[in-house]
Amino acid sequence: MLTAPAKNDYRLGFTSLASETNLAALPIEGSIPPWLTGTLLRNGPARFEVGSDRYRHWFDGLGMLHKFGIGGGAVSYANRFLRSNGFVEAERTGRIACSEFDTDPKRSFAEALGDRLSGRNLTSNNANVTIVPFRDGYLALTETIAPVAFDGATLETRGELAYDDALPGQITTAHTHYDRARRATFNIVTQVGRKSQYQVVRIPDGTLRRELVGSVTVDKPAYLHAFSTTERYVVIVEYPLVVNPLDLLLRRKPFIENYRWEPGRGTRIHVIAKDGGATAGTYETEAFFAFHHVNAFEEGDTIVLDISAYADAGIVNDFKLDNLLADEAGKIARAELRRYRLVPGRSAAEVRRIAAPATELPSIAPRTATKPYAYAYGVDAAGADGVATFDALVKVDVRDGSVTRWFAQGAYPGEPLFVARPGGTDEDDGVLLSVVLDANAGTSSLLVLDARTLSQLGRATVPHHIPFGFHGLFR
Ligand code: CO
Repeated sequence: MLTAPAKNDYRLGFTSLASETNLAALPIEGSIPPWLTGTLLRNGPARFEVGSDRYRHWFDGLGMLHKFGIGGGAVSYANRFLRSNGFVEAERTGRIACSEFDTDPKRSFAEALGDRLSGRNLTSNNANVTIVPFRDGYLALTETIAPVAFDGATLETRGELAYDDALPGQITTAHTHYDRARRATFNIVTQVGRKSQYQVVRIPDGTLRRELVGSVTVDKPAYLHAFSTTERYVVIVEYPLVVNPLDLLLRRKPFIENYRWEPGRGTRIHVIAKDGGATAGTYETEAFFAFHHVNAFEEGDTIVLDISAYADAGIVNDFKLDNLLADEAGKIARAELRRYRLVPGRSAAEVRRIAAPATELPSIAPRTATKPYAYAYGVDAAGADGVATFDALVKVDVRDGSVTRWFAQGAYPGEPLFVARPGGTDEDDGVLLSVVLDANAGTSSLLVLDARTLSQLGRATVPHHIPFGFHGLFR
């Protein structure tokens, strides 16, 4: 039996937030740099139960959008649930109605038949993972296909959008890559069926038309949370967490439970040309697992690829809510930051460890994407015993592996995002923004750190906790 988290407990970050608020000015401690002007949007789960039904996994919770408006040293805050079909049906029925990453609704045969006959769309669009700009607003994305549009000013959900194409496929990544030169967004769409394949697509600016660039046929598709791009290539890392297509089509278990860890397959890395879609190389390395790529770039014809790598896929189970909320929680696995080098003409990828601490929920200065770079930022799970979440912010110099860290007792940070100081030239001349749970106070804050030193400049505190989220953007 789970007990309610104590006030000084990290587990508050895995509990629901019911309220939707709009606050003109948050109390500020320290100071927010006057040059910092813009909006930080964040996405993540915020409701982990519906009636007496409970979601099983951190990734399942119903998505909420958060908005921090920053300007003139002041910070405003607003939040709203994404009106996904999962949320709308939960409100309507008081039960979990849509399948998520690791939760299926409990439906009797008659109820399931009724769902079908009603014509309601119960394919989840609980897009709680990332946010990308689109036309005059934004899209919230997850790994089911349909994006959900929302208004950046009000956070109101505009609704699910349909892609303007006939591309097959059931699964995509939420970590799209924008290519300024090609005026298009790249993504991977996995088709699972009699023929299974990873399809590289490009979506021209302002459209919802996924143009097929190239594809890789596969017998058992891997679970892909993210991928990399360089100036000329798309890089897909195929970890041995794979699914028998029939198991996914029959869906007798929640989505991710159908995947199997088959380390004997090793890991394959596919390099596909952005222009023309030809496979430029396939490389092999030992079995490992990752959610997130950090950055990739070309050095002549060699591709350098930095990844937050786990020894195996156990981290997927570590994020089950029963584990995260347990009275005696185990630590979550720590990723290590690894560099893979893909040298044409060699079938084996070269690999070395850049740094030992986790660099999970990694980020970089946006202008260094697809380029040689110096700094990766992220969260670590250094872990006091019994703390099953991220508890430090880290900055890794990827050139020499040196690590700078921010840590505070009882503080649990989320994904750090770098914002460059206008006119600054050094890669780390700017701030890091991270939403941090202060478990002792039972509140969350927007933390502003000097990105050079990870020293605290200021924080703006929300009057309640913000459940641990995933990704966001600053504009
Ligand atoms: Co992610």
